[in-house]
Formats: sequence, structure tokens, C-alpha cells
Amino acid sequence: MTRPQTAPIVDVDRLTRRFGERRGIADVSFTIAPGEVFGFLGPNGAGKSTTIRLLLGLYRPTSGRMRVFDHDPTHESVPILRRVGYLPGELALHPKLTGAQHLERIARIRDLTDVGYRDELVRRFGAQLDQPVRALSKGNRQKIGLVLAFMHRPELLVLDEPTSGLDPLMQNEFARLIRETVDDGRTVLLSSHDLEEVQELAHRVAIIKEGRIVVTDTVEGLRRTAPRTVEFRFNHPVTAAEFQQLPGVEVRGIDDGRVTLSVTGAVSELLTVAGNLGAVDVSARRADLDELFLGFYRDEQSGD
Ligand SMILES: Nc1ncnc2c1ncn2[C@@H]1O[C@H](COP(=O)(O)OP(=O)(O)OP(=O)(O)O)[C@@H](O)[C@H]1O
Ligand SMILES: [Mg+2]
Repeated sequence: MTRPQTAPIVDVDRLTRRFGERRGIADVSFTIAPGEVFGFLGPNGAGKSTTIRLLLGLYRPTSGRMRVFDHDPTHESVPILRRVGYLPGELALHPKLTGAQHLERIARIRDLTDVGYRDELVRRFGAQLDQPVRALSKGNRQKIGLVLAFMHRPELLVLDEPTSGLDPLMQNEFARLIRETVDDGRTVLLSSHDLEEVQELAHRVAIIKEGRIVVTDTVEGLRRTAPRTVEFRFNHPVTAAEFQQLPGVEVRGIDDGRVTLSVTGAVSELLTVAGNLGAVDVSARRADLDELFLGFYRDEQSGD
């Protein structure tokens, strides 16, 4: 069966937002397909929350185009917000109200009558509902934020660092919830600093840096291009020079007859060189994405 052609849920094209002289985001483009978990990664101040706020109509763009459910967030945010569950990066709850009062209020605003799923979420996360939220720990406030975002089973979840403050058990519960949500055919935009979480949950990932998207790819695609660590052993000393000039090869360490390299791309030339030098042993491990992500996080190739 061929997959039906469906319009993207989120469609962002050269979106730019400046704050006076300050950079917000510049020329950000991406789409999110129905049923997709789209991971949004980037260092502090990169522009993740700004992009998210634009998509929800909370900021106006300086230029560019965006559509969410084929509506313009700037002028038609109401029909969008009805279909979205939003967990902000800085959750603003009313300090004097209890969790239960928050849930009641939002349920009323959303016309939510079937509270079975809400109660299930409260149970699963062990959300504490009977105290004013100011008396709750950060993680326990976050749980209320999660219930508020998910309780009406929205078609699109927009989650800005949703697991910040959650303990590992709750992070696992969150991962289960995301899987159920996509099994249900719904869509998730997940901004995060947790590389492992993104690798595990996201179908595609965009990395934003200094307001610009530097890469968008599937997790599998990123993995293919991620650097591998390759180690050769020789029965005699070798020098870095023999490997340094090879394309895609970086010498990480050299210790007598042992050479550790970081390798991107094809290995055939490298194997020839190592073979000619009389390599006696080799080991290679595929880097997980952490190294690649951290490379994007670091400042080395900042273009502006
Ligand atoms: N309301 C605002 N007024 C002025 N500058 C802003 C405003 N909102 C965001 N910015 C600026 O836009 C840039 C992007 O910020 P943003 O909050 O989107 O980053 P982020 O990727 O969410 O970072 P973090 O990981 O720390 O949450 C920053 O330089 C920030 O100072
Ligand atoms: Mg943020």
C-alpha cells in the first residue's frame, strides 16, 4: 500500500523573527508530517522556544511564512490552539491554585467533558493535585504541565523541553506516552536538550544554532553521517602525518603504534593507507549521535 499524500501539519518557510537588534531566529524552514515526532535541538538561546512561540501565534514573525493545520498562526491562532497541546518551556502556573484547580479551569476552557484520559494521565505521572502549585517541586509542577498538554488528546503536541525536571521513571513514562500518541496517528514537536531522548523518540531531527537550522535529517540519516571512531595498531611507531591528509579523517590520538581516528564518509582510502603501513589490528565503533550533536553544539563552524 502506498502512503496517502498528506499535507504537513506544520509548514515553516524562511521564518525570521528579530527582537530589535537582537537575533531571534533567521530563515528557519522545516515541515512536520502527520504522525511524526519531530525533534528540535540546539544550545541555549538558539531559537527553539522562539520558533515554538511563533507557531502558536504568541510572537509575530518579522518575515517568512508558516502554516499550522493550514492556518496562519498570526491571524488564525484560535482554530490552531484548539487542536494543539502546548507545554511551554517556562511553565507559568498560578502559584496559589492547586493542580486540581488548574485542570478544572483548562478542562472548562477546552470544553472537555470526558475526563477519563485526564485521570489516567494524573495516575500515570503521579501528579499531586491537592496542593497549591507553588508548594510543588519543579518536577511535580512539570507533571501538571504535561497533563494539561495531553489531556484533550490534541492532534499536535508542542512540547518545549518536556522532561526537564522529571526523574528517570517519569522520563520513561513520558517516552511511553509519546509512543502511544504517535501510534494514535498524532503528531509531536519535541524540543529537548536530552540527546538520548531525541534519538529514541524522534523520527526526524532539526538542529538550530544561533537562530538558524544547521541540519534536518532522520535519526538514521544522521547516524550514517556521524563520525566513527577507528583504531589501528601497528608493530612500529607511526606518525599523524600519514593519516591527517586523508579526507574525512581526523587524528584523535597517537600513542606509539596505536592510532585513534575519527572518520566520516568512506573508509577505503584509509584502509589502503593503514594496510600499506602494515596495520596488525583494527577496531571500529559507530559513534552514537551524541558526538555529532555535540559537534553541532560547539562553536567551531559558526557561519556568522
Ligand atoms: N521576548 C524576547 N525579547 C528579546 N529577545 C528575545 C525574546 N525571546 C527570545 N529572545 C532572544 O532570541 C534568542 C533565542 O531565544 P530562545 O528562547 O528561542 O532560545 P532557546 O533555543 O529556546 O534556548 P533554551 O535552550 O535556553 O531554552 C535569544 O537570543 C533570546 O535572547
Ligand atoms: Mg527555550
